[in-house]
Order: sequence, then structure tokens, then C-alpha cells
Amino acid sequence: MTDVIEQKALITIFGGTGDLANRKLYPSLYHLYSKGSLSKHFAVIGTARRKWSNEFFREKIKEAIKDIKGSDEFADDFISHFYYQSHDVTDKESYVTLKDLSDELDKKYHLEGNRLFYLAMAPNFFGTIASRIKSEGFVDTKGFHRLIIEKPFGHDLASAKELNESLRQAFREDEIYRIDHYLGKEMIQNISVIRFANSIIESLWNNRYISNIQVTLSEVLGVEDRGRYYEESGALRDMVQNHILQIVSLLAMEVPIKLTTDEIRHEKVRALRSLRVYEGDAVHKNFVRGQYGPGILDGTKHAGYREEDNVDSDSNTETFVAAKLMIDNFRWAGVPFYIRTGKRLAKKATQIAIHFKDVPLNLFSEQKSLAGNVLVIHIQPNEGITLHMNVKKTGQGMETMPVNLDYAHSSQVGMNTPEAYEKLILDCLRGDATYFSHWDEVSLSWNFIDHIAGVWERTKENFPNYKPGTMGPQEADDLLLQDGFQWFSVE
Ligand code: BG6
Repeated sequence: MTDVIEQKALITIFGGTGDLANRKLYPSLYHLYSKGSLSKHFAVIGTARRKWSNEFFREKIKEAIKDIKGSDEFADDFISHFYYQSHDVTDKESYVTLKDLSDELDKKYHLEGNRLFYLAMAPNFFGTIASRIKSEGFVDTKGFHRLIIEKPFGHDLASAKELNESLRQAFREDEIYRIDHYLGKEMIQNISVIRFANSIIESLWNNRYISNIQVTLSEVLGVEDRGRYYEESGALRDMVQNHILQIVSLLAMEVPIKLTTDEIRHEKVRALRSLRVYEGDAVHKNFVRGQYGPGILDGTKHAGYREEDNVDSDSNTETFVAAKLMIDNFRWAGVPFYIRTGKRLAKKATQIAIHFKDVPLNLFSEQKSLAGNVLVIHIQPNEGITLHMNVKKTGQGMETMPVNLDYAHSSQVGMNTPEAYEKLILDCLRGDATYFSHWDEVSLSWNFIDHIAGVWERTKENFPNYKPGTMGPQEADDLLLQDGFQWFSVE
């Protein structure tokens, strides 16, 4: 257990009345407070258009944390650190008032000029806010200045570049923390430990021993009330560009010389640079898209994607993606990385399955093939790893049977694994950007995705093509079958 060090900072949340702030940020801040990472020397300003009083805002915070065990005892002290400022992001005057409040709180709580700005709102104003933060002198204090921004980071490479340039007017690259909440998940962070702290794993982690890797991020929920956003993004931009490519880069990267932010990033960037960029027909061959139709899931009738609110009745937007990625370097040449993600699938689960090559000869049975060795990394809802192996069936003869060696994280440390947001906010306060996306990673990912999106936009797909409660369209299975593989079932 590392010692808890109190972080001193003013945290200004743009989009302070929003869903993300309520569901994730305020509970995370409370957890940090209850553990002592935030204590006396912190203040939070929530800003948004609505005209709320401090009292009303504080009641909302109380509500947001009410389900956290023990929170009622400390809630009043915690919420006393919260202030609300109604704000119009495009109006210069608004920033003057906000700056005055910031300076006042800085003095009151002895925050040493440390400022964290959290943009938890629609991205179209990110640039405006960043440039005002600079021009109105918010970052003239002597402490640290950091900016956390939520996705989407652009819609394609060109818009991401534009956004990045506007942020860079006010913040240096090392002050920009681009959130990818998957990087805060316990078992995603565990990938480096599983790989680099175990010689039996790392020595097999290459194309001599691994036949293929499968990454699944499946969801049961549909698009809910996010039709407007989703129509513009689709599963490719919503999940593959960020979460999946980040996971792939962690799996594929070379061993960094040290576990520092810069060294890890350097290797992740190199992995992304080795990702084969598909053009033209190769996109159709290696990428499958799907869209859910209407159907019954868990006994409930669900509308198809095209019937969801704010979705075009003839929409060509994908709610499912499966693909075969290739990493063209010495370590991975010839090893497919299959990925899939989708909404309204059979299970909510995130899982990585590493399939090892078969033994050269099956000595045990001519009739029965040996089950392959698979290392499964369970990201959610269960956390842990499972190694699938073969052993002898007890009794006479040499019949084999598959067994699983399991390590279940949640059963070891209880259900208290800190939420991804809590970890990431603390990392940012401590100035550790390891589990945030660097611009070089973002731009390489967009370059890859733009090629796929470009081809898909020019062709209309025969949607809908999968039913709720399945694991996507048949073509996703065929993608593996043609290589002699199958999706490992989601556990
Ligand atoms: C978000 C996507 O980034 O991740 C959502 O925008 C998706 O569409 C969500 O539902 C999934 O996150 P988690 O942590 O629930 O797996």
C-alpha cells in the first residue's frame, strides 16, 4: 500500500451539472476524499449554463454520493468544498467571474495555484474554453495546470488535429490528459504486470508460440438516449478508435526499458505504427460491421437501432464491429489480433483471449483433438485471469481433459476495486500521464480508423444484420473460420 499523500488543487469541472459528473466524477472525488488523497486543501467549482446556487449544487453532490457506504457521516464536510458558477463558455465576462472565484478559493484553501480543468461536456467548445483559460489568466498561477478532456477527441484525424492545436495554444502536451476510461480499469493496467513480471508469459509472448489474440468488448445495452452522438460515431469511432486500439497497443508493445510514462508511450506508439493500415478491398476483407435489428433480449422486447430516438430510419451506422488486425513487426508477423465490439449483444463483458499454438503432435488420441492452451484476461464484469490447460483424466489410460487455472481478482480484494475514474483523476493530480492517451497515439489511431470509415461511408450495408442477444452477424464468425479459428466464448 503506498502512503496516501494529500493532493492540493482547485478542480474546475466544465459540464458540472451533467450526467458524467454526477455518475462518475463526484463519486470518484468522494472516494479520493474518503481515502485522504483529497482532504482540506481542495475545492471544486462546477460550471454549466444553468443558474444554480452553491446550496443547490451541494445538494446534488450529496445525492450523487449517497449510495457510497459511510458517505452520510462525511458528506457535509465534503460538499462544503464545492462551489457553483453559472457560466456561458462563449462569453468573456463569464470567465472574469470564474477567475475571481478561482483566485478566491485558491487563497481560502491554500491550493498553491494548482489547477485542474476537467472538460466533461460536448467537445465543440473544448478549443474555446482552452483559449479563454489561457487569455483570461487562469494559468498564470505558480502551481501546476492540467487539463482532462473526455472523448470524443475529434471525429477523424483532421478534426482531432484541429482540436489538438486549439488545446495546445493554452496547454503543453504534458499538461493535456486525454481520458480513455478503459485505461483506468484494474485488469487493463494489469496487462503490463502479467506480461513483464512473469517470465513464462513474456517468453511465449510472440509469433512463435501465439496463434491469435482475441479482444472482445461486448455490451447488452443499446444506444439508449445517445442516438444523436452515436449516429455520428458508430462503434468504430466510439469503441475501436480509442479503447480497443489502446488495449491492442498494450498487448502488442515491446518491453519498455523502464515503466515510466515516456518509455511505455514510446513502445505503444511503435506498436501502433506497426499496425497494418487497410485500404480499399482489404477493408471489406478484414472488417465486418453490423447493426442490431429489433428483437427479444432477456424476455424484453427491444427496438432495432433504426427505431431508436434520434436515429435515422435508414441509418447506415454500425453498432457492431469485428476485425482482423495485423501488426507487421518481428514479434507479431503472422499473428491475427481479432477484435469485436457491439451493442445489444448476448453479454456485457470485456475479455482478452490469448490462444497459444497447438503442440506439434497429439500423442493422446487420434480421434479427439486436444483443447488449445488459452490465457484469458477478464477485464469486466469479473476481474482475473484463467489459463486453460490439459491434464490427465484420473483413472486408467491416458485420456486428457481440459482444466482451468483461475485467479479471480474480485474475490481476492473484495468488490472495492477503485473505479477507473477515481484512479485516473488521482493520476492526473499526481502528474502521472501513463494511463492517458498521448497525441501520437490518438493521431495514429485516427489515421488507421479514417481508412476504414472512408470505405464504409462509400458503401451502404445491408442493415440490420444481427439480432439482440446474439454475438453479432455471421460474418464476424466467418472472419475467424476462414483462418481456421473460432471466437473464444465470453465467460
Ligand atoms: C464509452 C462508450 O466510451 O464506453 C459507450 O462511449 C460505451 O458507448 C462505454 O457504452 C462502455 O464502457 P464500460 O466501462 O461500461 O465498458
